[in-house]
Amino acid sequence: MLAVTRHAASLAVRDLDLVYASSRGPVPALQQLSFDVAEGEFVSVLGPSGCGKSTLLKLAAGLLKPSAGRIELAGRLVEGPRREVGIVFQQATLLPWKNVLENVLVPVRAMRGDVAAARERARELLRMVKLEAFSSHYPQELSGGMQQRVGIARALVHDPALLLMDEPFAALDAMTRENMMVELQRIWAGTGKSVLFITHSIPEAVFLSDRVVVMSPRPGRVLRTMAIDLPRPRTIETMVSPRFAELTNELRHVFAGMEPA
Ligand SMILES: Nc1ncnc2c1ncn2[C@@H]1O[C@H](COP(=O)(O)OP(=O)(O)OP(=O)(O)O)[C@@H](O)[C@H]1O
Ligand SMILES: [Mg+2]
Repeated sequence: MLAVTRHAASLAVRDLDLVYASSRGPVPALQQLSFDVAEGEFVSVLGPSGCGKSTLLKLAAGLLKPSAGRIELAGRLVEGPRREVGIVFQQATLLPWKNVLENVLVPVRAMRGDVAAARERARELLRMVKLEAFSSHYPQELSGGMQQRVGIARALVHDPALLLMDEPFAALDAMTRENMMVELQRIWAGTGKSVLFITHSIPEAVFLSDRVVVMSPRPGRVLRTMAIDLPRPRTIETMVSPRFAELTNELRHVFAGMEPA
């Protein structure tokens, strides 16, 4: 049995506004935000701290309602949390009292799915993230990178069509982070899922993506969309190639022109 099917869904973000109510009045977080993630496409949203990236992710996950505009998943309006979505957060947020295999199964239990059937799938996903030898270990016995890999397996266990990732490698050291970028690319190529990846790292966005959407400081708008034409599979060598340097420099210039938030 294959752990995950290659079914993927498109995401359409249209004229999205989000205004937070706060004690000091309304805080506009997103303004007229529009972009797409095609089926099976890897899109990164890159922007400075506080520009509304996590807000966008929460909207795409159906955890927040837009003030205006809309988000569609596979052509259907997102009005609440959806089974077709898997989420990876900045921190792995594993349950310390459950072992690795049981942590991967958490979404299946939460969705009242067939746990017995999902167990084999969870094992296969742990093989995919190279943690099959650790399935009965507990989170505190794993490194940060390993925990984040458990988080990726957990996000895939119910075979979502779209993966939402909010700075999943931000808490990792630089070397682990580069390895995780290569690993994530391999996992993505193996699953064919659509990915919306949030980051404020230019090299991370360039390395991983088919396209990079650059956001302005708050209220977040799309400043620029850039196609990344680096051949795949990308490796550590990709990061020292002249084309990689050109693309990252171009994005640095987009940021250099921004007003501070
Ligand atoms: N619940 C809230 N109430 C009021 N304002 C909020 C709330 N959540 C976020 N904000 C504000 O909205 C803006 C966007 O926040 P968000 O967390 O989406 O930014 P971000 O791009 O993810 O930042 P970072 O890169 O630091 O994670 C920020 O200015 C933040 O202060
Ligand atoms: Mg954030």
